[in-house]
Amino acid sequence: MNHAITLTVNGVVREASVPARRLLSDCLRHDLGLTGTHVGCEHGVCGACTVLLDGEPVRSCLTFAVTADGHEITTVEGLAGDDGLSPVQRAFTECHGLQCGFCTPGFLCTVTAFLRETPAPTEEEVLEAVSGNLCRCTGYQNIIKAVHRAAEIQAEEAR
Ligand code: FES
Ligand code: FES
Repeated sequence: MNHAITLTVNGVVREASVPARRLLSDCLRHDLGLTGTHVGCEHGVCGACTVLLDGEPVRSCLTFAVTADGHEITTVEGLAGDDGLSPVQRAFTECHGLQCGFCTPGFLCTVTAFLRETPAPTEEEVLEAVSGNLCRCTGYQNIIKAVHRAAEIQAEEAR
């Protein structure tokens, strides 16, 4: 039996008909065609599937789509604004914070939410913030730099 759900995804109202156990990650990718959200481990370890649910980062592979009914979702496709890439996206580009890019959507969503709460983070806070997202390529150095750079860009743009 399917359930009709309505999600606001990246500011757009979307409807889907899903089984009760449909994962939010599968709903986004397969029902709504938003394949920017990546699925790695499928059991909550890698963070690749992270999206924002009402602004808070969640593992979409651990979230049933029906539980997101009536809520707002932001995926990596929704991070850029009308005037281009977001500060976090620009910082990852500038600092070479990605290689294969598989982990990147999850990092971008995680870091976007983190900097909203912690706009001027310490080194320890940045390490803690990204500790739930796995990257097999970069060794994290440039990701850490990118988070600090994103904080700088946001501060510059807020002036
Ligand atoms: S795919 Fe969701 S945490 Fe790895
Ligand atoms: S850039 Fe390849 S897994 Fe992170």
